[in-house]
Amino acid sequence: MTKIMEKDFGCSNPQIVKYCEQIFTPEDSVLKEIRERSHKEGLPMIQVGKMDNLHIEVLTRLCGAKKAVEIGTLGGYSGVNILRGMGQGGRLWTFEYHEKHASVAKESFKKAGFESQVKILLGRALENLPKIEKEGPFDLVFIDADKQSYPAYLKWAEKNLKIGGVILGDNTFGFGKIADKTNEEEITALQKFNKTLAESDRFLSTILPTGEGLTVAVKTK
Ligand SMILES: C[S@@+](CC[C@H](N)C(=O)[O-])C[C@H]1O[C@@H](n2cnc3c(N)ncnc32)[C@H](O)[C@@H]1O
Repeated sequence: MTKIMEKDFGCSNPQIVKYCEQIFTPEDSVLKEIRERSHKEGLPMIQVGKMDNLHIEVLTRLCGAKKAVEIGTLGGYSGVNILRGMGQGGRLWTFEYHEKHASVAKESFKKAGFESQVKILLGRALENLPKIEKEGPFDLVFIDADKQSYPAYLKWAEKNLKIGGVILGDNTFGFGKIADKTNEEEITALQKFNKTLAESDRFLSTILPTGEGLTVAVKTK
């Protein structure tokens, strides 16, 4: 079988990457099956990397989240780890535009034992997000969909997160272009997302040097 494309961990030394993966074992048989089935079903291999997914689970647990929102479901790979991080009683609302991706994710959540704790909202996230506002305030919002909408997702998250709630934004190194002067819509949106968080007096924020950059922000007021 050909090797399925995987995203890098933010460390350029292959020996250290191997060491980390051996010691921390970020991907068990459930996650491996999701990644392989997603590939077989023809989904793009753009889920978070193995170690990034472990970061997401640990961060979810660290902030004690019980109500989480994920924007960008794909095959359910990161969604399962958010649910694992929340443990019993956790609930996830996850937003996906493509029906095919959502159906693969549905199977993933079922296989991982989380069927009753997750709701997949099909369609454009910006149109569907208002539908769950009555369930808030939320403890965690993970943003991992269309990059040009990151500033709008941030606005929604700021309004609907509890104080102490956390935003995770993936791909915030802008595919290597975040520091560039550019007119590319996706990159300027990611730059706006990072800058807004960095300068906000309602968030304490940082950016973790994962392979693709993971912005982490906690709402302080
Ligand atoms: C990078 S993938 C998500 C990966 C997933 N978080 C994981 O790591 O397992 C982005 C997903 O967002 C979906 N998407 C893109 N634009 C969207 C939109 N406007 N509303 C909802 N979903 C969208 C794509 O179809 C794709 O499945």
